[in-house]
Formats: sequence, structure tokens, C-alpha cells
Amino acid sequence: MKSRFIVEPAGAVRGSLRVPGDKSVSHRALMLGAIAEGTSRISGFLPGEDCLATLAAIRAMGIDAQQHDATTISVTGRGLHGLSVSPAALDMGNSGTAMRLFMGLLSAQSFDSVLIGDESLTRRPMERVARPLRDMGARIETRDGMPPVRIAGRATLRGIDFSMPVASAQVKSAVLLAALYAHGATTVTEPATTRDHTERMLSMLGWPLERRGATIRISGGGRLRAAEIQVPGDLSSAAFMVLAGCLATGGELVIDGVGLNPTRTGILEILALMGADVRTEVEAGQGAESAGRLIVRPSRLRGTTIPAALVPLAIDEFPVLFIAAALAEGTTIVQGAEELRHKESDRIRVMVEGLRALGGDVEELADGARIRGGGLTGGIVHSHGDHRVAMAFAVAGGRATGPVTVLDTANVATSYPGFVSQARSIGLAIEARDDD
Ligand code: S3P
Repeated sequence: MKSRFIVEPAGAVRGSLRVPGDKSVSHRALMLGAIAEGTSRISGFLPGEDCLATLAAIRAMGIDAQQHDATTISVTGRGLHGLSVSPAALDMGNSGTAMRLFMGLLSAQSFDSVLIGDESLTRRPMERVARPLRDMGARIETRDGMPPVRIAGRATLRGIDFSMPVASAQVKSAVLLAALYAHGATTVTEPATTRDHTERMLSMLGWPLERRGATIRISGGGRLRAAEIQVPGDLSSAAFMVLAGCLATGGELVIDGVGLNPTRTGILEILALMGADVRTEVEAGQGAESAGRLIVRPSRLRGTTIPAALVPLAIDEFPVLFIAAALAEGTTIVQGAEELRHKESDRIRVMVEGLRALGGDVEELADGARIRGGGLTGGIVHSHGDHRVAMAFAVAGGRATGPVTVLDTANVATSYPGFVSQARSIGLAIEARDDD
């Protein structure tokens, strides 16, 4: 069923909250837990639909995973070669991360696999992952470069030296997962720094890997040992609330337990450039990941030119940044962000169209946009089923001059279950309605 958000202008934003667990870390905890030896206890897990697709997939491949409560799961790994063939195609739903990381992991198994997804995922590019995996010896077929993905088992993998053409943590992670099973060493060189959750978790589970400059080196033939895995709150989810706090007319918002891995904090750096009043207090260690508290106060935002090096470090936060820019004073320029066109929707096109529907002044560029600030009116926006687009426009509605309706919002449950109630708890006037 489709659903929509109806949002009225708001005033103060105040309170304190914890956002749900990090999506990227939750996927990796399940996958690596499944091929480690022993029982890993995962706490702070994100019970969003994307990660539940990964959970269903490891169970379909014979892994015992006990969900004690929504956010605590024990996964009993059966070692590198302990997965078994799934009786049915593995359905990744809306999740590009699940599909791409599993492509790496399943390339090395002794059985065949088929990966499928929803309508959005079925339009997303998979050759960027299939190509290097084939160079390693994997046997993978895509349909015109897109899902379904068919992976033949019993391939013998060898290490490669791979220089990534796009800055993508998903591509990097898929190759690193296949490299665990490969003969010899694999190196992956990034064109720009991308999130390093896979590397951190592999090290924590006892698999050595080396990083020199932009190159990561890993060798096959080791083993992973189960561990306690703490998943921090997802900064990508917190970003919506941070923006709401910046746009508010009063109040103070505190968000605790948020992941602050430096390969994810580009959003905080960019918002600081825009004049946002966000204070960060790093807490004591959260396992392999760092975490802390964010304290957000109403801010006068100004436009900026987003530095190219920060783009991959804020890649999921551009819907938030487009809204911040439209409500700031002055012009914001986003460039070098062509990757946004390959997310759950074409986020450049969809954000430009949505901003225009709310009276925004924005010019679409091939790899970004030029957004002239100055405010937004009310109106109707299509999210195109993209969770982050839907949440970004919901936050825009708090500061627009009239009511905003956001269409096609059901996929918010893929990454941020409880978004509407948390947003209401801090002062946003938002309501979710099911369409008839
Ligand atoms: C992710 C990497 C990013 C990001 C996605 C999650 C990951 O994709 O957009 O939401 O968990 O590795 P790319 O690495 O393809 O940019």
C-alpha cells in the first residue's frame, strides 16, 4: 500500500532522542557474523526492511539467527564455508547494499545463487560490482547490467589489484568479501575515501588488512571469529533531525549514540560550512566504530560550494543538503555528485523536481545542482519511493510557508522505522496517512 506524509509548518524543535541503528553496519554485522566462527551478539541492530532482507537471506542459507528483541540478534556463524544453498531466490527488497555485498560473498560459495529486488533495485547498476568479481574468477550474470543477478557456485577466485572507477563503499566491500576466499592478495584503491565499516569489522573479527594511502590490501585464507558487535545510531537518519533542529525557530535538540566514523561525517562538515550550530561530543568506544552526541540549535544557514572531497563522505545526505540549501541565504553549488543518480531514485532529478514543486529556485546540473536559497512554499512532492527523499521533504515541510504533502513514503521503513513518531516527539507537525 502507498502512503503519504502531511506536514504543517512548525516552530521550535526540542527534546532528546536516539535514532535507529546504522544501516551499513547492521548489514555487515549479519553477513560477517554468518561466516565467522561462533555466536556474535549484535546490539543496536537496525530493524528496517533493508537489514531484515539481509537477515532473511542468511537464514535462507542455513544460518541460525535469533532475534531477542527488535535490535538484538545473535548470529551463529558456521565459518567461511558454512553457508548452504537457499531453496529460493534471495530477495534484497530495496537494498543496494545487501545485493552488492552479497554478490561478493556469494561469488565464492560452492552453490549457485540468484539475487532479486524490488522495482527500484531492479533498475540499479550491478556491473560495477560484477566486473571486478569476474576478474577474480567469479561467474556472474546480470540482466542488461541490472538485477536479477545470477551467481554460479564452485568458482575458484584469485586476488586482483583493483582500482575503483567510482568511489563506492559497496563496490569496495563486495571485492573485499570475495577476497577473503581468493588465492593470494587483493588490493583495492579508492579514487576518494569512502565509508570503511567493512574494513573495521573485518579487523575486529580478527582478519588482518592493511591500508596504505588510498589502497587496502587483504589476503585470502584466514578465519573470522565471532564477537560482540555494537551498532551505533545511524548518522544518515540523524541528519534529518539535525536539519529540523537547525531550521527551528527555537529549542535545542540532543541526539545520543550516533555513529561518528570519520568516513561518514561529511554532512556535519558541510553543515558547519553553511553556518549550522551543531556541537559534537565523542563518547568512549563503541567497538569498531566511534559514536557520540549531537547538540543542535537553531541556525542561520548560508549557501556554500560543497567541496568535492566531502561528496562521498556525505553521499546519502544530499537530500538533506538540498533542503538546507533551499532554505539558506545565498546559493549552494553541488558538483561531482553524479553517483546520486544511481541511488534508490535519481536523487538529483527527484530533488530538483520536488524543490520546484515547493517554489524553490534550482538548476539541475549533470553531476549536481545550483540551488538558490530563500525559502519554500507549500505544495505536493513525489518522493518516487525513495526513503531519504521522503524524509528530507518532510523536514522541509516544517519550515515551508504552507502545508507540504509528500507522496509514496512507505519505503521510509527501509531505513528509519519510527521516523514519524520521533519527528513528532521533537515538535514537527507531521502525519502519515495510508492512501486508499
Ligand atoms: C553504502 C554505501 C553507499 C551508500 C549506501 C550504503 C554501504 O553506496 O549510498 O546507502 O553500506 O556500503 P555507494 O558506496 O555505492 O556510494
